[in-house]
Amino acid sequence: MELFDVYPLYDITPVKGEGCFVYDEKGTKYLDLYGGHAVMSIGHSHPHYLEKLEAQLKQLGFYSNSIKNPLQEELARKLEKAAKITDYSLFLCNSGAEANENALKLASFHTGKGNIIYFENAFHGRTSSAVAVTDNEGIKAPLNKTHSVCKLAFEDISGLEEQLKKGETAAVIIEFIQGVGGLDEASTGFYQKTAALCEQYNSVLIADEVQAGYGRTGDFFAYQKHNIQPGIISIAKGMGNGFPIGGILIDSSIPAKHGMLGTTFGGNHLACAAGIAVLDVIEEEQLMDNAKKIYEFVQQEVAKIPQIKRLKGRGLMLGLEFDFEIAALRKSLLFNHHIFTGAASNKKLLRILPPLNVEQQHFEMLFEALKIELKNY
Ligand SMILES: Cc1ncc(COP(=O)(O)O)c(C=O)c1O
Repeated sequence: MELFDVYPLYDITPVKGEGCFVYDEKGTKYLDLYGGHAVMSIGHSHPHYLEKLEAQLKQLGFYSNSIKNPLQEELARKLEKAAKITDYSLFLCNSGAEANENALKLASFHTGKGNIIYFENAFHGRTSSAVAVTDNEGIKAPLNKTHSVCKLAFEDISGLEEQLKKGETAAVIIEFIQGVGGLDEASTGFYQKTAALCEQYNSVLIADEVQAGYGRTGDFFAYQKHNIQPGIISIAKGMGNGFPIGGILIDSSIPAKHGMLGTTFGGNHLACAAGIAVLDVIEEEQLMDNAKKIYEFVQQEVAKIPQIKRLKGRGLMLGLEFDFEIAALRKSLLFNHHIFTGAASNKKLLRILPPLNVEQQHFEMLFEALKIELKNY
């Protein structure tokens, strides 16, 4: 049987990972500055992660959500402490799209409304309503276009109020720093006004922290810089360091009812062990501080490379913007220097999303490689 051919593939086969590096079947070592798409939060094969997962697998890998699972409570406690948030409860699922799907559904249950507002360049996943609020018509099937949605430009506060006033909007969904779309972040004023309008018109503000969350920006959540409180926060990527796990954090003003959400695999024992191990390491190794420290170094170094027009994002969620399309440069970094980086829908942006324990020396390798390659531009 052939694989369903939906991914354009690089001709590279990683078979082993360690820290910020992966190795192919011939033993070639690659620097992973992309973290498998912002997923590797504590690095490949972290010893604490391996120990926790192995011990849990020997104990109990899975049982359904119809029994008590104290690991879910431990994860919730540790998450609350790491994120320094109170007044939220946790629902666990398996991926980012699923987190957003549940967030949108819950907002609709809670408000009794069915319309969702999203923003230009947003990416929220590929399930039915998550893709309906994603700004990419090419990945929406006719089914996904049956949802009631409204797209607005970032900072369009009057358009937002006009739409909310109609009284049909269940939720406004935002990536506080856009990932796939190209690292744009609106102003604190816009985010605070949006939160206030959601409150005024009884709509839920959903912070999609699937990519920006879990310490990646140097804050636990990207929205925290803007001093607002979302009704629902969706999380996934960095949460399990590669083990599929996602979730939503729900403000206490939104009550739960048995049966309103549910999942077979979400919050299973192994997934929780992975999630707990990640939070342990983020705290013990002070990885949010590391994200801030490395960001300062990157800022200094980027300023020395004239071909880089702008550094976008913050912490370890970064985009280097050039004044030319970067597809060929990205390929050269991969095949000539063995460095993984990422692309965005902004074709001039090179995305950098390494494990949060990346070191200065790893970025030095990137800048050395860039200096060599940029001689050709
Ligand atoms: C901001 C954001 N939301 C949601 C998703 C979807 O997550 P998943 O691929 O785990 O479904 C992504 C994935 O890239 C994302 O970046």
